[in-house]
Amino acid sequence: MSEKTSRIPKFYQLSVEERLRIVSEFSGLNSNEQEMLLRGGLDLATANRMIENVIGIFQIPLGIAVNFLIDGKDYLVPMVIEEPSVVAAASNAARWAREGGGIETWSSEQVMIGQIQLVGVNNPYAAIFEIIKRKEELIKIANEKDPVLVNLGGGARDIEARVIQTIAGPMIITHLYVDVRDAMGANAVNTMAEAVAPHLASITGGRFRLRIISNLADRRLVRAKTRILPSSIGGKEVAEGIYEAYAFALADPYRAATHNKGIMNGIDAVALATGNDWRAIEAGAHAYAARNGRYEPLTRWELTENGELIGTLEMPLAVGIVGGATRTNPLARLSLKILGVKSASELARVMAAVGLVQNLAALRALAAEGIQAGHMSLHAKNIAVMAGAVGEEIDIVAEQMIRERMIRVDRAQQILSQLRSGKA
Ligand code: MEV
Repeated sequence: MSEKTSRIPKFYQLSVEERLRIVSEFSGLNSNEQEMLLRGGLDLATANRMIENVIGIFQIPLGIAVNFLIDGKDYLVPMVIEEPSVVAAASNAARWAREGGGIETWSSEQVMIGQIQLVGVNNPYAAIFEIIKRKEELIKIANEKDPVLVNLGGGARDIEARVIQTIAGPMIITHLYVDVRDAMGANAVNTMAEAVAPHLASITGGRFRLRIISNLADRRLVRAKTRILPSSIGGKEVAEGIYEAYAFALADPYRAATHNKGIMNGIDAVALATGNDWRAIEAGAHAYAARNGRYEPLTRWELTENGELIGTLEMPLAVGIVGGATRTNPLARLSLKILGVKSASELARVMAAVGLVQNLAALRALAAEGIQAGHMSLHAKNIAVMAGAVGEEIDIVAEQMIRERMIRVDRAQQILSQLRSGKA
């Protein structure tokens, strides 16, 4: 059992300051770090070193998803996202998962693939024989490029090569498998691929072209599993609805794309919060979803005899906790501190857990009351603010619009003026 609990009822009803106090206690944030969350942590000079042509800093809200129990440990999960309902949905579904015993996870080793393209090779199968014969020598050349990674227990591990037929003729594609430990790994892998490429060219008599990481990181897989009691989600009928929603996604790529989008709502939000490359994650996720030749959901849902749902997720997740923006952006460092993850594998496993329950929350809303009901409350509050409501007025105006099922700025203005003249 873990000593701290992330089960925090009514967290959403607290003020920003009260929430921050709870998170700070949970994660040991000091006053500087708290200030950074409230005022923004990325300064212009740092931003100017991160990308080119900087003219400012764009901000997105950082929310905390509560209730996560993953492999027996409690997590508060920082999520950076502009879309309403996602953080609330993750927190709710994490609670349901908790009621069924929490979420279990697994991850493979942190192995990334570097691809080296060779063209103009005569007798390509004989050339592959020569590559594999010299495998150890090639791995050594790759590892000489990153002694730090090797010292940490990582480094190039294996080499495979195959012939592909293309519209530009046959090519040899060599895969360099690199254990990147706690880094996302693109830099290490690309450097190694570039180092090995000229040797491959001279071994095979061909010419090298591309030397780049593959985002289909299927040697860096993560899995999550949870059990959901029917009582947590509104009964067996809802559980069946969720199962049928999954069946729909399994049978129809149009639905599978949206199903997976819901999963990525959670995963990308944690990726952004922790400074990870969410485009790489997206690319890997969707390529993996199509690995059987047809685009499929990344989660699986099964119904047990007593009406429980068992959900599993399997996907590649190339994330790091060292290097890149995870280090340069102080808010990313803070998110990692809030999460309390100690390795890239642990971060990936938390993200898989978030993706799994994010999917559950979406399917439950869709199978039960429909997705708009959940969006309404925040939407109504936004409209109330647009109409000029401040402080307590926001909730009063929003609630009345929801009761009336008329969420419009003109109606918000009317309610607000009645409220201010004491008539509402
Ligand atoms: C919206 O951002 C995500 C959903 O469309 C996901 C889904 O349909 O499963 C609600």
